[in-house]
Amino acid sequence: ESPELEAEFTATVTADGRIEPRDWMPDAYRATLIRQIAQHAHSEIIGMQPEGNWISRAPSLRRKAILLAKVQDEAGHGLYLYAAAATLGADRTDLTEKLISGRQKYSSIFNYPTLTFADVGVIGWLVDGAAICNQVPLCRTSYGPYARAMIRVCKEESFHQRQGYELLMTMMRGSDNQRRMVQESVDRWWWPSLMMFGPPDDSSPNTERSMAWRIKRHTNDELRQKFVDMSVPQAEALGVTFPDPELRWNEERGQHDFGTPDFAELMRVVKGNGPCNAERIEHRRRAHEDGDWVREAAAAYAAKRAARAKG
Ligand code: ACO
Repeated sequence: ESPELEAEFTATVTADGRIEPRDWMPDAYRATLIRQIAQHAHSEIIGMQPEGNWISRAPSLRRKAILLAKVQDEAGHGLYLYAAAATLGADRTDLTEKLISGRQKYSSIFNYPTLTFADVGVIGWLVDGAAICNQVPLCRTSYGPYARAMIRVCKEESFHQRQGYELLMTMMRGSDNQRRMVQESVDRWWWPSLMMFGPPDDSSPNTERSMAWRIKRHTNDELRQKFVDMSVPQAEALGVTFPDPELRWNEERGQHDFGTPDFAELMRVVKGNGPCNAERIEHRRRAHEDGDWVREAAAAYAAKRAARAKG
């Protein structure tokens, strides 16, 4: 390692420049990016499951087509992100192995069950809304391939968020039962959505260094606050409430005060003990194993073509 290379890296990052795959970077910067991008990719792929659960039971052809498109988008996001991780030297098969053996994490939010069709709307509105809040600043993250992947991901996430909100608006114009379903779903997803932003800043081991490297552009608590402020007027327009008696506008701060999410619950879920962790990983493992023959066939075909090209 040379001090000149290190100085050049630091200068690029602090001038809001981009680090590209062939540039020198500290080992820990590379490791942090692989960790975050892999977790992000895994989240997109595991995130297909809770909603995939409703594809065959969507109430109309229109809702089914929208949901199918959305779940396919998530697969695409996972692929861009695995490709971004590959530019850092990570191997996709290895990342998948780490996911299904529980050695790498994915977002806590996807370990909660989807009990009603209203959950499809609430996931779009709140979960994808939280994802956008977190990911729009990542379009300016210091690592080029990650930043560029985020641009397209964010455009598609905005569509996901709108479809969720539109679905909920439709339900709110429906029967009392439908309105109750929406409120019940919001009550279940609100706190887990706030937990998506991670532990509070004073117990987030990675934030300080990731901020200095401009991998993260805002802290966990800053983004959580932004999400609350953004969601409150949307809830009012929709006609639902959030299950937080401490939630109120603070005139002095120009932001909302809100209660503390149950971070002990977040840690339990992250450690593998949420309501659906075992089921999600088991499903992913089965899908991976069922795909064995496809990978084998693709590799055999590629080898045959390569041999033919040579001969
Ligand atoms: N779910 C699972 N794990 C979490 C969560 C969460 N909601 N929040 C934090 N963690 C993990 C971190 O990954 C970290 O674990 P590790 O050090 O073993 O890797 C640990 O808890 C401590 O947290 P932080 O120090 O705050 O970690 P970090 O700086 O990485 O911040 C964050 C966490 C905000 C999630 C960040 O990694 C990030 O912005 N990631 C990109 C976005 C993303 O992954 N979104 C996925 C969900 S959205 C979607 O797919 C629709």
